[in-house]
Amino acid sequence: MSLLKDRLQKLNSKLEASYLDLPLATKASDIIPGEGTVHATVMLIGEAPGALEAIERRPFVGRSGQLLRKVITQLGLDFSDLYISNIIKVRPPENRDPSKKEIESYKLFLDEEIEIIDPLLIITLGRLSMNKFLPKVKISQVHGQIHDIEWNGKMRKILPMYHPAAALRGTKVKNMFIDDFSRVKEYIN
Ligand code: URA
Repeated sequence: MSLLKDRLQKLNSKLEASYLDLPLATKASDIIPGEGTVHATVMLIGEAPGALEAIERRPFVGRSGQLLRKVITQLGLDFSDLYISNIIKVRPPENRDPSKKEIESYKLFLDEEIEIIDPLLIITLGRLSMNKFLPKVKISQVHGQIHDIEWNGKMRKILPMYHPAAALRGTKVKNMFIDDFSRVKEYIN
């Protein structure tokens, strides 16, 4: 096994083993780890797993995940070049937004995940994920624009996008969501 794969597996084991200290989790299997190749060029970061994600123990497999995966496929992006995760790893009750405290509790795990994957581009899906890197901006003003920022001592390229759940709520956001995604293809090419 590659060194990176081994590091990621150890991180996920540590995450599961820490469930008692983490908010929202009542058992190790409540934890929904990230998914994809450890060598991904692009890392997508959503907010929190929903009901279907909790059942299947995979990120982005519910309605918004289906839209996300459809857009990725239609644009001809290569799934084997992506890694998908969330800022918190357990489903919040009633699918409410995760609180600041919950986000803080899962922060170290996500930070290490980013360090291990070390992607060329990070796509944030939704406001809460965007705020991790760009705390002072409005998604309506910056979506679809790549931001070069220094983060945890390293230059990172961040592409904020609307959350696919918002895209499901209206055609205008859906079109912006698809349009923003086409920039990923341009960027990778
Ligand atoms: N499913 C996820 O895994 N994350 C989200 O942010 C929304 C749905």
